[in-house]
Amino acid sequence: MQAAAWRRHLLDHHLSPTTAAAISALRSASQPALVPQGLGGVDGARYMSARAPAVKGSGHLVRKGTGGRSSVSGIIATVFGATGFLGRYLVQQLAKMGSQVLVPFRGCEDSHRHLKLMGDLGQIVPMKYNPRDVNSIKAVMARSNVVINLIGREYETRNYGFEEVNHRMAEQLAMISTEHGGIMRFIQVSSLGASATSPSRMLRAKAAGEESVLKEFPEATIMRPATMIGTEDRILNRWAQFAKNWSFLPVVNDGSTKIQPVYVADVAAAIVNSLKDDGTSMGKTYELGGPEIYTVHELVIIIQNLQINESCKLYMR
Ligand SMILES: NC(=O)c1ccc[n+]([C@@H]2O[C@H](COP(=O)([O-])OP(=O)(O)OC[C@H]3O[C@@H](n4cnc5c(N)ncnc54)[C@H](OP(=O)(O)O)[C@@H]3O)[C@@H](O)[C@H]2O)c1
Repeated sequence: MQAAAWRRHLLDHHLSPTTAAAISALRSASQPALVPQGLGGVDGARYMSARAPAVKGSGHLVRKGTGGRSSVSGIIATVFGATGFLGRYLVQQLAKMGSQVLVPFRGCEDSHRHLKLMGDLGQIVPMKYNPRDVNSIKAVMARSNVVINLIGREYETRNYGFEEVNHRMAEQLAMISTEHGGIMRFIQVSSLGASATSPSRMLRAKAAGEESVLKEFPEATIMRPATMIGTEDRILNRWAQFAKNWSFLPVVNDGSTKIQPVYVADVAAAIVNSLKDDGTSMGKTYELGGPEIYTVHELVIIIQNLQINESCKLYMR
């Protein structure tokens, strides 16, 4: 059976049907120009990969149970970047509906320890891999039918630049997923504002990553979250810590920059809902923003009002 037809078959028979929440959580931003090759709908493939698929990994899946942690959702997901901020919420939401989650990790054994308890016994499977070793990537994907790429970094290191982390790795994962032949869904997490013309090198790399992913795996779903907030976020926590330590917060441009923070668990829910739909989110790009738009100044005032240290002052330039 062709890979796309197989994906369709599995989606039709083994994954949960669309829920109202699945659609309302996602706001379609754009649909890439893809040429449908087939009739679409439930009987035909909506989009076909140009790459000739292999048969590896296309085993028969069975969905069992009531949908809770001890059921079988039929999803076996390899979540690259699961050890990060969004990863912990996504793994938890996948595991609580009875999915098996493969967690590739490259660091120490502690980096994934918090994820183990999120699923039933044996449902969270950490696997050591090397992002520069194709065979180790293939090994962590071998048994999956879903690949989710959360790998990304907003700064460069001596070993890894923006281009490699945000573009080349995504491209490589999409390429291997297509070759695999049994990957039904590929979710690429990019960033709001990703654009080839952005002044930010990271956002340009993210845009190139999206383009390469869609080229390799046209059925991929692209998620572009805005700044994510939550218990472990890297924006409000840092500002609050700075204000606490130094009793002031520096703000550039009078704090007029607008941001639309989104709760990290809502982003995870959007990804899970896209996996549960009937395939409508395949090949589409979604921009995920929170309910309110704030200026940086407004957010800083909120933090200032919450601070124990009431002498905190704002310095604006
Ligand atoms: N946080 C936000 O506000 C925000 C906003 C918009 C978009 N995003 C995007 O959403 C995705 C998830 O964000 P996040 O906040 O969860 O990121 P995060 O906490 O920084 O986690 C990033 C993940 O990527 C992995 N990673 C980073 N560099 C890597 C490399 N060179 N090789 C292999 N793995 C690497 C990390 O693995 P290690 O643990 O091994 O380092 C970690 O698992 C990212 O693509 C990010 O760009 C985030």
